[in-house]
Amino acid sequence: MKLRFSVSVIVCSVLVLWVALFLCVFLDTPVPDEFPENFKFKLMDGLMRLHGFMMSGMTSLGLIEYFSPADRKIADWFILTMTTGFPWGSGVDSRLQITDTKLRDVRVKIYQPANSLGKKKRPVLVYFHGGGWSLLSADCYDPIMRKISRESDVVVISVDYRLSPQHPFPVPLNDCFDVVEYVLDNSDTLGVDSSRVAIGGDSAGGNMAAAISLRLQKRIALQLVLVPVLQIINWQTTGYMENVLYLNKSINSPNSLVFLTNYLNLSPAYAHQFLINNHTSPEFKKSKYFDSVDQKKWMPKKYVRTKDLWENIEYKKDFGNQELFKKVEGYLKEPLISPLIADDETLSGLPFTYIMTCGYDFIRDDGIMFHEKLKYLNVKTELAHYPEGFHNALMFPHGPLKMDIGVKIIADIVRILKNKL
Ligand SMILES: *[C@@H]1O[C@H](CO)[C@@H](O)[C@H](O)[C@H]1NC(C)=O
Ligand SMILES: *[C@@H]1O[C@H](CO)[C@@H](O)[C@H](O)[C@H]1NC(C)=O
Repeated sequence: MKLRFSVSVIVCSVLVLWVALFLCVFLDTPVPDEFPENFKFKLMDGLMRLHGFMMSGMTSLGLIEYFSPADRKIADWFILTMTTGFPWGSGVDSRLQITDTKLRDVRVKIYQPANSLGKKKRPVLVYFHGGGWSLLSADCYDPIMRKISRESDVVVISVDYRLSPQHPFPVPLNDCFDVVEYVLDNSDTLGVDSSRVAIGGDSAGGNMAAAISLRLQKRIALQLVLVPVLQIINWQTTGYMENVLYLNKSINSPNSLVFLTNYLNLSPAYAHQFLINNHTSPEFKKSKYFDSVDQKKWMPKKYVRTKDLWENIEYKKDFGNQELFKKVEGYLKEPLISPLIADDETLSGLPFTYIMTCGYDFIRDDGIMFHEKLKYLNVKTELAHYPEGFHNALMFPHGPLKMDIGVKIIADIVRILKNKL
């Protein structure tokens, strides 16, 4: 007994020392001057880099494979620990009834505020988590979903859609769509109001929310499109160019383009070709599709920190990898992948659209351009832009790395749900 105890103390100490050592190495990230919670920001970046470093070590040793169940489990534990302090997340919550179940064969977690249990016609939010269509889960988002449900008094259905690369487009999107359609068609059984169905998601989840709204239009009462990817045509945006200088070994890593090749069922070897816009042909670069992501037209200068960058945007159009373009042409013209390129008529039918973007996010511009386009088409839309925010800031309204920016983002989402749903 005593021996076992001392062995675990030694193992723990070694582990803690190791983590501390690597954190010191990884705490060298540049922090923007205007960022208020400097140390937590660095710590988050350092922890994410440590996780990335350990995973790449374990894959090189053949102990684990990227995007395998084990890789995903570790990512979930890691995020839960960062956001709640414990790998198993939060405990029982007397203010909510939480159910794990399946709707139309898709796994979901349902959060019902205890004070409205048994009531009919409650408002409901169907939520799609982020993670590049490839990682994370409804379990990993559990603390955030609890908070939103509790504070807004809205029933939340968090969808555990199937993930890429095992399940590329359109499988994750169809899973999400099936759940939303089920909720609309079975509102009585669920005790919710079919005229008060909101959908929402962040990152890849925001992409799918926007795609689903294109199909369901005003059957949806409100959509929350948070730090979304809304186009895959132009990666050399001002948002990318400005922000690849920050957090570029963690949340803003250029390697994240692998999530897109996963979703499109392509070899990860193509990720870099997307990044440099070599995935589109010269003709495509001159087409109407490129026009709908034209930054001079749709990206107001006021959101760009480096004004010169905006002034000097000019896209070279005479290059491109034809072979790759042939492979991806269908995807590039698909509004369900790039909602920004949908035609004006479809976009005009969208429900109230709440868009959230963060200044230090490399996909910052997609949400802003979407907001501008919807405003131009007289669609009701609100943009919540946080200049000091970063891509995953919404994960930190609580826990050991609780940051003001996370608190603010979630409070604003709760306010929108209360006012608009
Ligand atoms: C990452 O950021 C550093 C500065 O923080 C910069 O020197 C480097 O070029 C960036 N990497 C990429 C791939 O842009
Ligand atoms: C872009 O694609 C072309 C045609 O396949 C290729 O020759 C070129 O090397 C690519 N550019 C880069 C920078 O990879």
